[in-house]
Order: sequence, then C-alpha cells, then structure tokens
Amino acid sequence: MQKFFLFGNSGALSIAEIYKLTNIEKFLYFSEKFAVLDFSKDEREILRDSGGTIKAGKVFEIQKFSKVLSQNFLREIVKNFLSSKSFKKKKINFGVSFVGNFDSNFKRKIKESIKFELSEIGIKSRFLENKTDILATATLKFNKILEEGFEIVLIKSGENLIFGETTENQDIDRWSKKDFERPERDTTHGLLQPKIARIMLNLSRKNLKNPKILDPSCGSGTILQEGLDLNFDMFGSDIDSKSVEFSKKNLLWFFKEFDKKIDETKIFVQDIKRDFDKKFENFFDAIVSEPFMGSQISKELTFKNFLTRSKELIFLYSKSFETFSKILKRGGVVVFAFPLTLTEGRYKKLNFESKILGKNFKMIPPQNFLPILSRFRGITERGFVFGKNDQFVQREIVVFEKL
Ligand SMILES: C[S@@+](CC[C@H](N)C(=O)[O-])C[C@H]1O[C@@H](n2cnc3c(N)ncnc32)[C@H](O)[C@@H]1O
Repeated sequence: MQKFFLFGNSGALSIAEIYKLTNIEKFLYFSEKFAVLDFSKDEREILRDSGGTIKAGKVFEIQKFSKVLSQNFLREIVKNFLSSKSFKKKKINFGVSFVGNFDSNFKRKIKESIKFELSEIGIKSRFLENKTDILATATLKFNKILEEGFEIVLIKSGENLIFGETTENQDIDRWSKKDFERPERDTTHGLLQPKIARIMLNLSRKNLKNPKILDPSCGSGTILQEGLDLNFDMFGSDIDSKSVEFSKKNLLWFFKEFDKKIDETKIFVQDIKRDFDKKFENFFDAIVSEPFMGSQISKELTFKNFLTRSKELIFLYSKSFETFSKILKRGGVVVFAFPLTLTEGRYKKLNFESKILGKNFKMIPPQNFLPILSRFRGITERGFVFGKNDQFVQREIVVFEKL
C-alpha cells in the first residue's frame, strides 16, 4: 500500500531518516516536503520513531492534476474515499492540508466537494479553515479530527495530484516538553534540538534491536534522551563533570516523565582524546555526537581566525576518531556534527578528511547513502547541512563507517 510522509524543515535529513526507518530505497514520489512509498507496515510507528516527519498517512488516489480540475471528477474521488469510511457521529469536523501551490479557487472546490458528498450520506460537517497550508497538530487534536472526522492531504507532484488521508501527526506536546521542560538547559554549550538528535540517531541504524550507542560529548544529554526514547542502549561521556551531572539530572527527569531509564554508571567523565576503559574496546555499535565546535562567537570570523580555530578543532576531531576506532565495532557507524562557521560572508567547512579518513574510517556522503539525495538542497559532498541563516555556526552532519 502506498503511504505518504510529510516533512518539517529539513527535507534531506528527513528523507534519509525515512529510508533508514523503512529500509525502502525506492521513493515513488518525493520532494523536500514529502515522500510517497510502497510500505506494508504501520506508517504510524515510523512517524513515532522519526524526528523529521510531521504527518504520515495512506494514499487513496493519484490523478493527473488537469483532470481533477473538473468538479464532477473531484466529487467522484471524494465519494469513493467516503465510501470506505464509517463515522461514529452525524456531525463531524474535517480538514485539508496542501503540499505545493494550490490556488484559492481549487481549495474552495475541494472543500465544497467534500461538504457536498458528506451531506449526500447524511453527515453534517464543519471545515477547519486553514491558517497555514499544513494544518497544525494542535488544531487537529482540539477538533478531534483523527478520532471523529478526517484530514485529507493533497500533494502536488509534477503533473500529478496525490490524495492522502492522515493517520498520525507528530506529537508536538511531547516534543516541546522534551525540549523545554528539562531541568538543565545548558545554553552556553549550545543545545541540539531533540528532533535533530533523533534524526542523527536514526541515521546510525543498522537493523540491530538494542544497539549500544555512545555520545562522547554528551553535554546536557539530548542525544542520550532521544536514544533512550528509541529504546537504544545509550552511554554518555563528557570531559566536563558539570555536563555529566546535567545529563544525569535531565535523564532522571526523563525517567520520571516518560518512564525510560538509563543506569547512571553509563554516564561518566572522560576526555574524548584519551583512551576509554579497556572494557569498551570494540564495544559500541555506533557513536552519535555533536562535539565541541569552538568557543561561542558573536560575529563572523576573519579567514585568519578561522584557520587558527580550525587547527584546534581538527586536532580534537582527529584525536576523537583515533579513540573511536578503538571503541567501535567493525562496521560500526559514526554520525558526527562538524561546524560550518560564518567566515567573511560564507559558511566555511572544516578540512578534516585527511586527518580522519586515514584512521580506519570511510565517509558515506548523502548521495551514496541514498542516490536521490543528490537532487536535494541542504547537502554538501560530505554531509547534511543543518542550521538557520542567522546562526554564526551551522552544522554539517556526516556519517562514517569503521572499516
Ligand atoms: C556542543 S556541546 C554538546 C551539547 C549536547 N549535544 C547537548 O545538546 O546537550 C559539546 C560538549 O563537548 C564537551 N567537550 C569538549 N571537549 C571535550 C573533550 N575533549 N572530551 C569530551 N567532551 C568534550 C563539552 O564539555 C560540551 O559539553
């Protein structure tokens, strides 16, 4: 059966994540905003595991857009869709989300067609007016759309119009609680968004049930938290004892709120540049980390400053990968965020390859990961770019495998 997944702001990362979660490489239709694929399992579980997908559902019709412009034809499609549904109530709410450019005339036509066909089967209805093209989860929840009514998703893809019905939305309340209600939010070290942490963890997947994953610069524990939420066997370390305490405190809170526990001994003080305890040799299935990216800056760098900073960071990262090659299993994966630093008007990348790739690692650029990614924005020849345009330091998320 064809299923659709709608993405938030990070299209390339999100489609790579969907590929990892479904193991399906063939995307029938896709853009920066959505993907449609043949998938027999439950799409709602994929959405719950993902960080980048905001809606998932079933496709019930695909037609040439030019055909659908006729109101009679549109009504036929709606009629077929409604014939497959049963409603508990005689009065329901429904909504429509739009992906791609639709004019207001078409938007009105679809709303009228649905209302008309519902009244034909004796159901009164209220249409949820759109403030944005994609209906917000809170609005859908408040109006009990998925329980009592329905949300149709219309996706323009080239000549085609894809009709889908949402079966699950991202749980916004849960995500914002995990982001903003943690007791320790260490903004001095910069906070990774939980959704991006989640995507990074998913990119490290290798079809293992409870992979052992380490974040060796765990800060206040965002990656650890998201890994626990996925039921991964998480370990965290940091050079800074205060960060280790923050992580422990945050994860205790996470246990109380969400009932997912980490043994405190799995979070410890450790300099990434130094050898880990012998028991960790060839131990981890993956390392997922947003490391130290240089001291905070409040203006763009000069080339000279960039070079000085790069030297220090490349030294740290090359030492880190020396450590990783000892503690990772063969075939183990590293998902690592490198800084892209605003320097004289452009985001400059760090030239780390010669220092890292010689150390038993190969890089898996997005295009090798999933060939269609070469058509996406937000990628480099090495990794995925993540960040806002007003940030001095963005991230380049790169995937490696130990040889
Ligand atoms: C960008 S922060 C990580 C933030 C984390 N992702 C979060 O969301 O809380 C980088 C962390 O690297 C740690 N760090 C710096 N140098 C290190 C080293 N040599 N070994 C281990 N950790 C180090 C810092 O103490 C800091 O907590």
